[in-house]
Amino acid sequence: MTDIIDGNAVATDVREGLGDAIETLSEAGHTPGLATVLMSDDPASETYVSMKQRDCEEVGIESHHVELDPDAPADELYDTVEDLNADDAIHGILVQMPVPDHVDTRRVLRSVRPEKDVDGFHPENVGRLVAGNERFKPCTPHGIQKLFDAYDVETEGAEAVVVGRSDIVGKPMANLFIQKAPFGNATTTVCHSRTKDLAAHTREADIVVAAAGVPGFVTGDMLEEGATVVDVGINRVDADTEKGYELVGDVEYESAEEVAGAITPVPGGVGPMTRAMLLWNTVKAASEQTG
Ligand code: GUN
Repeated sequence: MTDIIDGNAVATDVREGLGDAIETLSEAGHTPGLATVLMSDDPASETYVSMKQRDCEEVGIESHHVELDPDAPADELYDTVEDLNADDAIHGILVQMPVPDHVDTRRVLRSVRPEKDVDGFHPENVGRLVAGNERFKPCTPHGIQKLFDAYDVETEGAEAVVVGRSDIVGKPMANLFIQKAPFGNATTTVCHSRTKDLAAHTREADIVVAAAGVPGFVTGDMLEEGATVVDVGINRVDADTEKGYELVGDVEYESAEEVAGAITPVPGGVGPMTRAMLLWNTVKAASEQTG
């Protein structure tokens, strides 16, 4: 039997687990505050940001939203981040990526105060993660770690293959896998678009994390029997639905589910966990800034 990993259920547990900390902070006059900044008219980015705002409201985190015209000068974004850095009611800042081409992404990432960098994208926080002394773990790999805890997926000594080398998922995921216990101690391979024979790697893997951004990229015939398969993909593909599209992962679910020992569905797997861990990081940020 394949375990279908229920990200919605684990995300609910994570949110409920934050309740006491949020209440204590709020009673002390330090209601956690998350600022989201959107400089894009991409419908997917708009949806993600509005879901993050709704998540905040549901758990008692104050959500502040700044929306900038995608054609506005880059300075408007840099200035916005500086204002949020200086605002004591804001404990976490999330600038939704990607930003427009005329904005210097690296400058944006390094301008967020590291203590408020709930994405974990600031170079200081990236460095701390690599050094095994993390402040904020990026939300998607952190959420995957929580799923593994909840479903007793053993990383100790496992062969882990991460498909994709993004700064947001692939690289931090690999860094968590190679850390020492309690989570980690996995022998880790990072595959990417220039990998010569992807299947040769995935077929040896006890754990496959698919984060390539390509619909149906990982298929059942590329997996070892019993492998744990984590699908990070959220790809919009045209479909005859009300919205005109459907969301599909990077894993071809039907074939993978027949082989896998455990698998995350799309939707309802990694996505809710990414959102929950943003709340978790925001509460941590608020605790540390006010403690
Ligand atoms: N764009 C896609 N994923 C993310 C994320 O986790 N954080 C931010 N800031 N932007 C994103």
